[in-house]
Amino acid sequence: MTFKTLISQKSIQKRNRVLSQEIQRYYSQKEWILLGLMNGSLYFLPDLLRHLPPQTPMETWKVTSYLGTQSTGKLRGIPRSCPPLKNKHVLIVDDILDTGSTLFEVRHAVEKMGALSVRIAVLLSKNVRRQKNVKVHWVGFKIPNRFVVGYGLDLDGKYRNLPDIQEIQP
Ligand code: IMP
Ligand code: MG
Repeated sequence: MTFKTLISQKSIQKRNRVLSQEIQRYYSQKEWILLGLMNGSLYFLPDLLRHLPPQTPMETWKVTSYLGTQSTGKLRGIPRSCPPLKNKHVLIVDDILDTGSTLFEVRHAVEKMGALSVRIAVLLSKNVRRQKNVKVHWVGFKIPNRFVVGYGLDLDGKYRNLPDIQEIQP
């Protein structure tokens, strides 16, 4: 297996600053909350949060669907209820949009919990394997259909803490 850097930590941080400014501008007059999906947004969520006003609230859900480099298609971990989201404008934050099933289901659950609005921010978007039509409002980087790790993204729990985003070649 070989690793090739696709996006450096410096470019990620530069992009995060721009994204958080745009997000802040959009939500400045709204009662809002960030909902980070773990473990993928382990670094992305706090890095965005660092640039946002100190009163910005956040929640996390731990959801999983992946085994190795393949999505199992079965999403686990959506809670039955999440009171902090009720009557709030919710921004879902995730590491990557791939087939779209994760964000499709999470979005639906958040709507059912009484959110006033739901938007989505992802660090990465692969545009090849989309199975569900999910609108994302903020995208860090569009990437080709490759399996990537680092900056929170993992392969079976490994390589999450690599500082750059790296492409894995088997
Ligand atoms: P989707 O449900 O197929 O859109 O996949 C979304 C989830 O799959 C993400 O939140 C990631 O956790 C995981 N995922 C998709 N592609 C990759 C990748 O290239 N590397 C690591 N995780 C990935
Ligand atoms: Mg994930």
